[in-house]
Amino acid sequence: MTLLPTNSEQVSIRGRRPRDLPTLRRWLTDPQAQWREWDAPYFHAVSTTETMNAYVDQLAVTPPRPDERVIDVGGVCIGMVNRSEEAPAGGGWWDLGILVYDPAHWGRGVGTRALGLWVTATFEETNAHVVTFTTWSGNERMIRAALRLGFREAGRVREARVVGGQRYDSVRLDMLCSDWERANRERHERQA
Ligand SMILES: CC(C)(COP(=O)(O)OP(=O)(O)OC[C@H]1O[C@@H](n2cnc3c(N)ncnc32)[C@H](O)[C@@H]1OP(=O)(O)O)[C@@H](O)C(=O)NCCC(=O)NCCS
Repeated sequence: MTLLPTNSEQVSIRGRRPRDLPTLRRWLTDPQAQWREWDAPYFHAVSTTETMNAYVDQLAVTPPRPDERVIDVGGVCIGMVNRSEEAPAGGGWWDLGILVYDPAHWGRGVGTRALGLWVTATFEETNAHVVTFTTWSGNERMIRAALRLGFREAGRVREARVVGGQRYDSVRLDMLCSDWERANRERHERQA
């Protein structure tokens, strides 16, 4: 594993390009990829592989969607963000997802930066009043990245997930649009 220095300013989110597909296919369909131990590892690996193969096949024949972008570091696709509206449509609740495929980039600020960009984009582009994401208590990198951005714990179902034979809590975190805007305003005022 090569540890690359990551300047958080190099991180952007953008629409998928055709040249990203080989990278996406390699990471998403690899049954041994480390991200699978962290991103919903309570689902069976075989069904994850099947789902991912079908998903990449579908990506290859469909144009990019605004609800799914790639994370770009220095021109290279290193992960994805996505979002989906919770029912009922128009209710103002969107659930977010994030995945940095390459462990060489973990713990270096990329996820926090990408998640911040994705939250801003979602509040700007949709009717979201509140955004959430759901993870498990063993995924400390995910939880800490979200808390650093100002997300709050919204709910915890105790011992609901089994990973490696051990039980973990299911954890949901939320961010209100008004809180996000206030925090950004305050940050800009401090910088002025
Ligand atoms: C979860 C994920 C998006 C986070 O992105 P990242 O770039 O690794 O996170 P960051 O470096 O921005 O922040 C990580 C935080 O966890 C801390 N951290 C880093 N390594 C850690 C470790 N091994 N254990 C606990 N905390 C750790 C960091 O110090 C930082 O917290 P801080 O800001 O309070 O100091 C990324 O690791 C990832 O995609 N992992 C695999 C897939 C996954 O878990 N997706 C989320 C599914 S809900």
